[in-house]
Amino acid sequence: MIELTVNIPARDPKSYRIAIGAEILHSIWPRVEADFAGPSKFVVTDENLVSAGHLKQLLGERDVPTFVIAPAGEVSKNMDTVVSIIEAMEKAYLGRDTVVVGMGGGTVGDIAGFAASIFKRGVPVIHIPTTTVAQADSAIGGKTGVDSTVSKNAFGAFWHPAAVYLDVATLETLDDRQYRAGLVESVKHAVIADSEYFAFIEKNMQAILLRDRAVLEKIADFNCRIKGNVVEADPHEQNIRRILNYGHTIGHAVESASGYKLLHGEAVAIGMIAAGLIEIEMGVGDPERLERIRAILKKLSLPVELPKDLAENSLIDLIKRDKKAVNKWPKFVLTSQIGQVYCRDGQWAVNVEPRVVERVLRMLQVASS
Ligand SMILES: NC(=O)c1ccc[n+]([C@@H]2O[C@H](COP(=O)([O-])OP(=O)(O)OC[C@H]3O[C@@H](n4cnc5c(N)ncnc54)[C@H](O)[C@@H]3O)[C@@H](O)[C@H]2O)c1
Ligand SMILES: [Zn+2]
Repeated sequence: MIELTVNIPARDPKSYRIAIGAEILHSIWPRVEADFAGPSKFVVTDENLVSAGHLKQLLGERDVPTFVIAPAGEVSKNMDTVVSIIEAMEKAYLGRDTVVVGMGGGTVGDIAGFAASIFKRGVPVIHIPTTTVAQADSAIGGKTGVDSTVSKNAFGAFWHPAAVYLDVATLETLDDRQYRAGLVESVKHAVIADSEYFAFIEKNMQAILLRDRAVLEKIADFNCRIKGNVVEADPHEQNIRRILNYGHTIGHAVESASGYKLLHGEAVAIGMIAAGLIEIEMGVGDPERLERIRAILKKLSLPVELPKDLAENSLIDLIKRDKKAVNKWPKFVLTSQIGQVYCRDGQWAVNVEPRVVERVLRMLQVASS
């Protein structure tokens, strides 16, 4: 088992543990009982984790109050579900002395974390992430929230976990497309922060596709260290955490323009290629670097070109509406080499002229026609 600590300076307690292993699910509950002796526990999960047998593996025969989100996925990531969870906790006679345990993908983690952040003015949350997205990304950063009918994550809070228990064997039941798309967040971490990690992914691609446990543990270790370090430096996303947005500005626009037919990771894969092309256009790029990134994404069977039916105009319009945009145009996170984000005037997100972005989008369309 690999153990890491993430320090959250302005919080009490100041740090939390991340435990990483393979097939550790059955041993997590005794550990939770030992590490959080005293408070009651309340589990939040979803129907697919139940049918995959993971809830049974986690709890065994123990009788722990549990809320099963159904239907699973983004459709349930809303305030109705949060209200139902909180009312279920009240009906189970739970009070402030409760720990919420969220087991599932990013959807479950975001809902469970947000419910925990507001239940009786806030109780701790433990994450047990079970998707490639959750294990690399959502379980670690402390961002929680649910969607409104108008936009994603409209309701939310920073609520850092009290602990994270990560079992890579849970990924074995994950749908193949979800599995591959979620690995984009791992590729992202390698590109922005660690050239050795990038080389590790290149070298072990076959084992990654076969969901080799030892390789996945190593990947989880890299991810949690990289994301943990960024979160420690900037727990509330005020400066350096922006680097995690690499590939995401255009990625979010592509995801939205596809009507969410593309998974988040698939759209971010296109966004990462766009970032590489922008780097070349701006004279800080390198075709060989871009090729290495493209090769990894292709081996993951992820798109590296724009789908034919996406109009450039609508993408530009969506980029203008990016939530981080100032005066209707966002800044972009670029790289200067594998493992290093491009920094200009002390800024990690830099200005890119709209015409450069337009040109790059056209290049990505030409490539696909
Ligand atoms: N808080 C953050 O920092 C952060 C970061 C990234 C994404 N997110 C959010 O995460 C959500 C997406 O998360 P996701 O990609 O993990 O999707 P998800 O949680 O919707 O899971 C995808 C599907 O896989 C199923 N599933 C999960 N684990 C499984 C397993 N081990 N075996 C079988 N099936 C399993 C789920 O039931 C669901 O149907 C989005 O709402 C996004 O906004 C949050
Ligand atoms: Zn992402």
